[in-house]
Amino acid sequence: MKRFLMCEPKFFEVCYVINPWMEGNLGKVDKKLAKQQWENLYGIVSGLASVSLIEPVAGLPDMVFTANAGLVKNNEVIVSSFRHAERQGEAEHFQKFFASQGYRVLRLREGTIFEGAGDALFDSLGRLWFGSGIRSASHARDEIVAALHVEVHALELIDTHWYHLDTAFCPLPQGQAISYEKAFSRKSVAALNDAFGENIVWVSESDAKNFACNAISIDQSVIMHKASAELKFVLKQRGYEVIEVDVSEFLKSGGSCKCLTLEI
Ligand code: ARG
Repeated sequence: MKRFLMCEPKFFEVCYVINPWMEGNLGKVDKKLAKQQWENLYGIVSGLASVSLIEPVAGLPDMVFTANAGLVKNNEVIVSSFRHAERQGEAEHFQKFFASQGYRVLRLREGTIFEGAGDALFDSLGRLWFGSGIRSASHARDEIVAALHVEVHALELIDTHWYHLDTAFCPLPQGQAISYEKAFSRKSVAALNDAFGENIVWVSESDAKNFACNAISIDQSVIMHKASAELKFVLKQRGYEVIEVDVSEFLKSGGSCKCLTLEI
């Protein structure tokens, strides 16, 4: 059974702007609604997998986005080194959590920015896809290879709206994936097409803007904020069931379902 880490939105709000989705949303989070939406998501995920929780910390509103805690592989974790000062305080709490759970905690070299599973995703064939260009530094790739002894495929993100790899790419079981083309350089789109061929579903701009690629994949279920009828149909044909859960309050911060979880 898969296991995920989540963090209650006790201190979640939009009080700074570090991605384009946060613009215009300062102070606009409906906290009661956010709590309800998070609980709905928690209910769905814990029905399909086991969920561990980390204690939220005052003053760290984005700690709910546990995808950015680090990159986990078996019992090892590379804890993130955040680009923005606003999120840098999260790292020590995530590091403590992983150490207390018996993980071997690794960090990249001082100064190497790396935002964890927001930018690094294993596909079902065990290949690690690493996105850089907006948040994580491209040179983190070689350090990840050295730390985890994995094959790493680099992708270049080119649009600040798709600032983390997990906003535009989601590997699915059986070697499939969904992705949004405009997030990537032409070379990276070609690399994804080469690697996945027919097995990649390129989503429309409107699905991408509803964060369809920021999905949680558990067995044949794909949990996302919203999907068009067309996307649901395509995924159904490929053997998946889309489960929608409204996380509108978290979209105000530029995050959706997948960002709110970390597979550990
Ligand atoms: N406000 C957060 C940030 O900009 C959202 C993080 C979303 N996380 C993710 N894995 N895409 O850092």
